[in-house]
Amino acid sequence: MRICSIVGARPQFVKAAVVSRQLREAGEEVLVHTGQHYDEELSDVFFEELDIPEPDYNLGVASDTHGRQTAKMIARLEPVVEETSPDAILLYGDTNSTLAGAIVGSKRDVAVAHVEAGLRSENRSMPEEINRILTDHASDLLFAPSEAAVANLAEEGLGDGVYLTGDVMYDAILDARERSHRQSTILEDLDLEPGEFVLATVHRASNTDDRANLASIVDALASAPLPVVFPAHPRTVDRLEEYGLWSRATEHLEVIEPQGYLDFVRLLDAAERVATDSGGVQKEAFFLGTRCLTLREETEWVETVDCGWNRLVGPNESRIREALRDDWQPTADPQPYGDGTAGRRIVELLEEQLPAPKAEPQAEPVSLD
Ligand code: UD1
Ligand code: UDP
Repeated sequence: MRICSIVGARPQFVKAAVVSRQLREAGEEVLVHTGQHYDEELSDVFFEELDIPEPDYNLGVASDTHGRQTAKMIARLEPVVEETSPDAILLYGDTNSTLAGAIVGSKRDVAVAHVEAGLRSENRSMPEEINRILTDHASDLLFAPSEAAVANLAEEGLGDGVYLTGDVMYDAILDARERSHRQSTILEDLDLEPGEFVLATVHRASNTDDRANLASIVDALASAPLPVVFPAHPRTVDRLEEYGLWSRATEHLEVIEPQGYLDFVRLLDAAERVATDSGGVQKEAFFLGTRCLTLREETEWVETVDCGWNRLVGPNESRIREALRDDWQPTADPQPYGDGTAGRRIVELLEEQLPAPKAEPQAEPVSLD
């Protein structure tokens, strides 16, 4: 089988690394990087650390308005799909790169397979929510990470082609945690002691592109009883500067560059708690047993809230302050995201469910008499 995998943004490199490894043992992978993320620390570092092969194609779309960015991806991806004739297009998560792949697959009549299908925040003002819904409805194979995701798909009438696989980020973290302890020196480099700092990340449009929300988050983080380490996404740095919040942030928080995956996992594992609006970081915190306060009003990863590892505090200053001080304790340790073999399961399903490639027509045997 030949699979065309589409990646473009930081979390997709982490997810694709898990599946790519298995995929290349079972068949052929054509790896396409849309170029949505292009900075060294948002892209190259993940390929190096996670041993992801060099992409076969880089569409070089870079940053733009969402409409233009997605349109460029579609226009540049279609000829690649035409040229490589894959048996399926494999998509991850909920970014504009995901949606572009779903549209090209459905327009070219190529099977579409979606990893992380069925997640819903129920907040349609979030660009990612629309990307998820459209991608799921254009997909032939839907790989759901949890029972709740399967139920969300069923509510929308999607049952055929839905498989509960577990979550590939769980596979990823099992390996990364151990490697980060061996390889990362980030705690020493930043002079941090395990359990004695808070980690923070912010990049969600609803937080970065609203001055009042961003200011509330910065001020609340500044009130934390422990030092706050803040690897800042370039989008967040831009907005902090534009809104005149940069010095307020850097005065109280240790603002650092976005980190490579292993250093970031080491920080997350060692943090006393994390404050984030990231989807992936909420889950990784849960896997690593680090309490999380989520700077949003809702989450797709509802299981982490139900068992008390994650608290939704929105961009609300007083709720963030309280959650940074309060010594709340989780109530349970469930395992809703599989057993760390989601990548293997996904590749097995691709092998089982995709039609076998058509055999080359055989020449009729020629009779010699
Ligand atoms: C994107 C995804 C989001 C995901 C996040 C992961 C969409 C709609 N959003 O958000 O779901 O959680 O990636 O990190 O697909 N920029 C750089 N360098 C880069 C890339 C971006 O400086 O390499 C800056 C640019 O100013 C750009 C801004 O960040 O305009 C936003 O980038 P974009 O890819 O549009 O969205 P993200 O916020 O990264
Ligand atoms: N991450 C990282 N370095 C950082 C911040 C995040 O390696 O400085 C990793 C994190 O471990 C997770 C992924 O990036 O695997 C999450 O990406 P992000 O928060 O950008 O996107 P989301 O998950 O919200 O889509």
